[in-house]
Amino acid sequence: MRHPRLEHFLDIDSTPVSELGALLDLGLEVLAAPERYRGACRDQLMVNLFYEPSTRTRVSFEIAALHLGMQVVNVAASGSSVAKGESLRDTYATLQAMGPQVIVLRHPENDVHHSLLDLTPPGAHLVNAGDGSRAHPSQALLDVLTIRRHFDDLSAISVLVAGDLHHSRVTRSGVALLKKLGVGELRLASPAGLGAGDRVAKNARVFDDLDRAIEGVDVVMMLRVQRERLAGVEVPGDAAYHRAWGLTPERLARARPGAIVMHPGPMNRGVEIAPEVADGPQSVILEQVRNGVYLRMAILLALLAGD
Ligand code: CP
Repeated sequence: MRHPRLEHFLDIDSTPVSELGALLDLGLEVLAAPERYRGACRDQLMVNLFYEPSTRTRVSFEIAALHLGMQVVNVAASGSSVAKGESLRDTYATLQAMGPQVIVLRHPENDVHHSLLDLTPPGAHLVNAGDGSRAHPSQALLDVLTIRRHFDDLSAISVLVAGDLHHSRVTRSGVALLKKLGVGELRLASPAGLGAGDRVAKNARVFDDLDRAIEGVDVVMMLRVQRERLAGVEVPGDAAYHRAWGLTPERLARARPGAIVMHPGPMNRGVEIAPEVADGPQSVILEQVRNGVYLRMAILLALLAGD
């Protein structure tokens, strides 16, 4: 297996497909034998800088780094001098001056990471943990790693992503990665006003009805309605949304037998997904979370290889 090498990990588009494939292979290898990588990045320092709440991404990057023997500092913007008006650039430059090898940054605005590269010293690495509605590349990789654990051949499967696509950085990175890796068929389904936009939709079959979209697929990925970002878009209340767009056992029965159910989290149970589906035998939602630790170990190994 070729070891992937990355200077930064900012999005799927700017990462060569060879490195994306090698990252997935390394993630699978770490998953199979995590003890081989214990302490591999000893004495390296990672800062988690989060301007938005996070459970999975922040904690799994932290646990990944700890497994590798790294030291970790967590900075929540709300408890830092950001709350006194310090800009992102000044905050980032201040943290870089303290000498971490890796900064993992989540931010609510699109495309802030590329604009910080001029403040990133040689030998330091920047990782995107989610920006606005644009990109969440480590989530896309852990999702595809999870799919590959269940289906050997991506070119032979059909993947449906359904729900609030408009606000979803998971969709944008996921679609970009699945297309780069040659998925057999990609379907997108969303309520009116919550579509992914033409740039993403041109890579997929687009549906406005979940019952038709789910017919015969191998993978169903449900997304939550991001009510905190709706700003003017009319979306039905929770019960009406669930009737029209919720993944129920009856709807899941229309997918191919053996189909897997995914959700990047956090879930709104009883809204986009019924609890019995979320906790049912076809759900791999907690497997996604577990795989996130191994995949993020692979990202850190790829960044720090050769340093
Ligand atoms: N999937 C995801 O990004 O979850 P968190 O917001 O909890 O990190």
